Amino acid sequence: MARPQAHFVCQQCAAMYPKWTGRCDSCGAWNSLIEELPREGPPGGIGKRTLDRRGGRSLGFVGLTGPSTLPARRQTGIVELDRVCGGGLVPGSAILVGGDPGIGKSTLLLQAAAAIAPPTADGPGELKTQRPTAAYITGEEAIDQVRMRAERLGVTASPMLLAAASNVHDIVASLDREDTPDLVVVDSIQTMYLDTLDSAPGTVSQVRAAAQELIRLAKRRGFVLVLVGHVTKEGVIAGPRVLEHMVDTVLYFEGERGHQFRILRAVKNRFGATDEIGVFEMSDRGLVEVPNPSALFTAGHPGAGQQAFGVVGADGEKNEGAGSSSGQISGSAVFAGMEGTRPVLVEVQALVAPTVLGTPRRAVVGWDGTRLAMITAVLDARCGLSVGANDIYLNVAGGLRIVEPAADLAVAAALVSALTETPVPADTVVFGEIALSGDIRPVGHTEARLKEAAKLGFTEAWMPIPRGKKRGAAVAAEFETAPIGHLGELVERLAPARSPLGPLPRRHRIGVAS
Ligand code: TYD
Ligand code: MG
Repeated sequence: MARPQAHFVCQQCAAMYPKWTGRCDSCGAWNSLIEELPREGPPGGIGKRTLDRRGGRSLGFVGLTGPSTLPARRQTGIVELDRVCGGGLVPGSAILVGGDPGIGKSTLLLQAAAAIAPPTADGPGELKTQRPTAAYITGEEAIDQVRMRAERLGVTASPMLLAAASNVHDIVASLDREDTPDLVVVDSIQTMYLDTLDSAPGTVSQVRAAAQELIRLAKRRGFVLVLVGHVTKEGVIAGPRVLEHMVDTVLYFEGERGHQFRILRAVKNRFGATDEIGVFEMSDRGLVEVPNPSALFTAGHPGAGQQAFGVVGADGEKNEGAGSSSGQISGSAVFAGMEGTRPVLVEVQALVAPTVLGTPRRAVVGWDGTRLAMITAVLDARCGLSVGANDIYLNVAGGLRIVEPAADLAVAAALVSALTETPVPADTVVFGEIALSGDIRPVGHTEARLKEAAKLGFTEAWMPIPRGKKRGAAVAAEFETAPIGHLGELVERLAPARSPLGPLPRRHRIGVAS
């Protein structure tokens, strides 16, 4: 029988190699291969043995229903955080919160810990078994720094426990007891280390072993463990893949620098949906929840019942053809999107300018550049426009990042509007997916999108032709929907003179005012 061979496993992507190399061919990481010895096989060769003779115990299979011993979810009281976690924190679960340095992870978690353990009459510092308690363990900051932040956040009255530590064995020894807190925040996992391992804190093996130790304790003692993870230059949580597998929930805290808005996004959740977001605003007194993000992301848009851009000026005449849009500039469309279960309206802004270089420039913020290339190609090929030859700047207002294909039509509307200098009517929202043929595909949640738009004062929607029996589905009575079957109809709507279709056949004609 051949001896089991050692192999080398990449600690970043788990690719296996028979020999050590300096660089993983699969993911390109340097110095990430570590030797792993396969476990000795079961003794006695390959005889036809039954399981029990190998010493295994037979499993006690059960049905899908049965008495459940899961304790109820714990609400933090920060609604946006609870929503992203699927409606509260699940006791015994481990949550990884990732994000760029300085984005506000420590702030959010200190606020969450204080919210779980609200002030009591007994004064701070007392561990009470009968009411929810929280502990915040920092390996990055000194106690005084955390206290200063707590003061700034106005949470000093909370009886939560605070400690500065980075030795995992110390932490486990202090928490492995009957009256363990309900929420334990470890900030950050990269600073934690096990003294039984040789490598420095922050290395993959330390991060993995430290997290494993803490997660095991959380499961045994039934507290919610929140690990803070740093994001590396490549945009992944350092020591990342391993951690993402080990925890139950992975949240990313993100936001554009220079914007006040912060978005908490679930990318993995064993206890809820992964497409939920929570929206916060960073103020001088910490993070403030934003319960109605639509108002935020369309702020300044005249359709949202607020102030106009203030740049009306010279294109007054050009606006004439666009009916109700006077007071609005071209190149902007409001997208009626969905973030998880919640409809969110976002303004998409585009600027199309003649290129002065050989290759047209593209600058995209908050959206996928490849998808933009596809839409310009469809506009050029199917609608006879020449958008692609220009410099294009595309921006999603408020620092939100859109991933939904339903935004295609809104992007196209902003582009055509910018190119033809015709504003999209101010009271209109746009959504729909564009196929390569130029057809507009239906998208889900039409009703929810329209309701949100109606709530914010919009009165018209440019949207795909609804499928089957949903045709003419009940919407708010005062809401006008203009189904668009082909991208050419959008161009026809915005700039009839530029339309490749010429006068449309009667049955396709849309929004005939006269
Ligand atoms: P922090 O929570 O330390 O970020 P992280 O833990 O993700 O590295 O956030 C630090 C930033 O937040 C810092 O730039 C200052 C800002 N901030 C406020 O604007 N207001 C506040 O009340 C607090 C506490 C921080
Ligand atoms: Mg921090």
